[in-house]
Amino acid sequence: MNTHGNQIIRASLTLTGTLAFCFALTATASPDAGAALYKTKCAACHGADGKGATAVGKADSIRDLGSADVQGQSDAVLNTIITSGKGKMPAYGKSLKPEQVTALVAYIRSLASK
Ligand code: HEC
Repeated sequence: MNTHGNQIIRASLTLTGTLAFCFALTATASPDAGAALYKTKCAACHGADGKGATAVGKADSIRDLGSADVQGQSDAVLNTIITSGKGKMPAYGKSLKPEQVTALVAYIRSLASK
């Protein structure tokens, strides 16, 4: 192949790499960002799948986050529960930024039982 052809191939490889990088950046936005946060902050009580099948979850009868009962609440309500707490659920308003809470709500939506 001539030099010109090689340049075109190299240029398109660079472009593909750049696109993949941009895609990776976009993918860190919610609900993926929420998934990472959920794993570190919430899974201990709510379980990795949100079903609350943990010692704490059973003791405090946490509802399945994917259940219709929980999913039936508005984003605003879920946001308030995470920010201000509810019963034994700790308040995260001081430790999480509003956009992190929004990402968590988006993640909880992704747990909806199909
Ligand atoms: C120390 C254990 C614990 C941790 C950690 C925890 N939760 Fe909870 N969560 C609970 C309990 C207990 C309830 C049930 C509260 C109630 O209904 O009185 C609850 C309830 C909820 C609800 C409302 C569910 C419903 O029944 O409507 C949401 C939403 C929620 N938690 C999200 C989160 C998110 C997001 C995180 C992580 C940032 C988190 N929780 C971390 C214990 C925890």
